[in-house]
Amino acid sequence: AHRPLIAPSILSADFARLGEEIHAAKGADWVHVDVMDAHFVPNLTLGLPVVESLRKVTETPLDCHLMIEDPDRWAIGYAEAGAYNVTVHAEAAKDPVKIAKDLRAAGAKAGLSVKPGTRLEDHLDTLKHYDTLLVMSVEPGFGGQSFIADVLDKVRTARRLVDTGHLKLVVEIDGGINADTIEQAAEAGVDCFVAGSAVYGAADPAKAIAALREQAAR
Ligand code: DX5
Ligand code: ZN
Repeated sequence: AHRPLIAPSILSADFARLGEEIHAAKGADWVHVDVMDAHFVPNLTLGLPVVESLRKVTETPLDCHLMIEDPDRWAIGYAEAGAYNVTVHAEAAKDPVKIAKDLRAAGAKAGLSVKPGTRLEDHLDTLKHYDTLLVMSVEPGFGGQSFIADVLDKVRTARRLVDTGHLKLVVEIDGGINADTIEQAAEAGVDCFVAGSAVYGAADPAKAIAALREQAAR
C-alpha cells in the first residue's frame, strides 16, 4: 500500500485568487488544472497563459487535464509550460501514442483519460505508452457532480494490469470524490484522487486534504 496522492482541483477555487487558493491547499501532492474549451465539454475555463503563471507561483506538480478538442495540437504546449503531467482524452486524441511520446520528450508525464462511457479495453495497447490513467467518475465539464460508481470496474481492471506488470501507470480518478466516496475508490485500487468541491468547498482546504488522504489509505 502506497501513500495515496491527493490532487485538489482548482476548478472549484476562486479564479480571481488562484495563487492564494493553491497555497491554501497545503499538503496537496498535485494541483489538478482543468482545461476546458467549450467544444469537447460544454464549459470554458482556462488555458496555457494561466498554467504558465501558476507554474511560477508553486512548486507543487501541475496535473493538467485537457478537456479539449485536438489535443494532438495543444498538449505539447502544456508540457513546455512546465506541467508535471498532461492528460488528454482518449475520445479526442487522434494519435495518442504520438502525443505520449511528444509529452515525454518534453519532460512531462503523459496521461490518458476515459469518460464514464468509454471502454478501457479499447485503449489498453495505447496505455502502454502512458504514465497515468485518469478514470472519469463524472461526465467531464463541471465540478460538484455525483460520483458514478460503475467506473470502478475500470479502476479494478487497471489496478490488476499494473499489479501484474502489464501496465506501469498511476491510476487516477476524477469526479465526485469526497468523504462518502473516496473509500470505495481506494478499495478499487486508485493511486491518485482528484477532489474539487470536497477541498475548495471545505472551510479549511488543507484539513480536507489530510482527511481525504487518511480515508484513502489502504
Ligand atoms: C470535471 C473536472 C474535475 C472537477 C472535479 O470535469 O475534470 O476535475 O474539478 O470536481 P468535483 O471533485 O467537485 O467532482
Ligand atoms: Zn479534471
